[in-house]
Amino acid sequence: MKVAIITGGAKGIGKAIGLKLASLDTDIAIWDIVDEGEQSAKEISSTHKVKARFYKVDVSSYNEVSETIKKVLDDFNKIHIMVNNAGITRDGLLLRMKPEEWQSVINVNLTGCFNCTKTVLKTMISQRWGRIINISSIIGITGNFGQSNYAASKAGIIGFTKSVAKEVAKRNITANAIAPGFIETDMTLSLPDEVKETYQKQIPLKRLGKPADIANIVAFLTSEDASYITGQVINVDGGLLM
Ligand SMILES: NC(=O)c1ccc[n+]([C@@H]2O[C@H](COP(=O)([O-])OP(=O)(O)OC[C@H]3O[C@@H](n4cnc5c(N)ncnc54)[C@H](O)[C@@H]3O)[C@@H](O)[C@H]2O)c1
Repeated sequence: MKVAIITGGAKGIGKAIGLKLASLDTDIAIWDIVDEGEQSAKEISSTHKVKARFYKVDVSSYNEVSETIKKVLDDFNKIHIMVNNAGITRDGLLLRMKPEEWQSVINVNLTGCFNCTKTVLKTMISQRWGRIINISSIIGITGNFGQSNYAASKAGIIGFTKSVAKEVAKRNITANAIAPGFIETDMTLSLPDEVKETYQKQIPLKRLGKPADIANIVAFLTSEDASYITGQVINVDGGLLM
């Protein structure tokens, strides 16, 4: 039985990842700042024969992350998979962007990824097995109008992932990033219908993505079949970027 931590696992893509990994007999630790995480953990443990627990933690706080890792180890004993999925947007043109809008996105999306990966590594190294999966975005590759903070954080995740992959490869730990395109979740719900329709027209596969489209790739990357893949960025975007 493997153990996975999924940050931002209360809803959206993170919740879908939890459900998918649970279907593959993986115990799940959901990390999130919203209480919906409790409900998601209950849903996972009631529909699959695995243990699932919710931990209320802000990934941008190194202290909170270090304390929560200890709690997970007390509860589950091991940690095999770390999915750094928690993310936020604070969109705005650079000319109008407030320093706190820049900083909060960097703190959650990029520093959160650093905090969680750094604190989990020791356990993975001692197990001589680990899978780190970081959720970036195609915006980190292309950049986007009104998203300089978000694009910088997601591009940062790509550089971080490749560096970590090089550092830990000899320990039998892989680190990969997934770059989703447009996925239907709360994050994209508030976008105007015209924006969604424009995206849909541009996507070669002619549909917006679903959280399960990302969860399926996470499942593959955690499997033994993916043991020779590390330091990669896998676009899951219906062909939008090609
Ligand atoms: N939806 C998309 O189209 C899309 C596209 C590319 C990348 N992504 C990325 O996928 C990831 C998941 O996004 P989503 O669409 O499911 O969004 P979402 O808003 O539905 O879920 C994000 C989750 O992260 C949690 N979270 C936010 N700040 C946190 C913090 N400080 N500590 C712990 N948890 C925190 C939220 O409470 C929420 O449960 C994000 O990293 C996002 O940038 C999403």
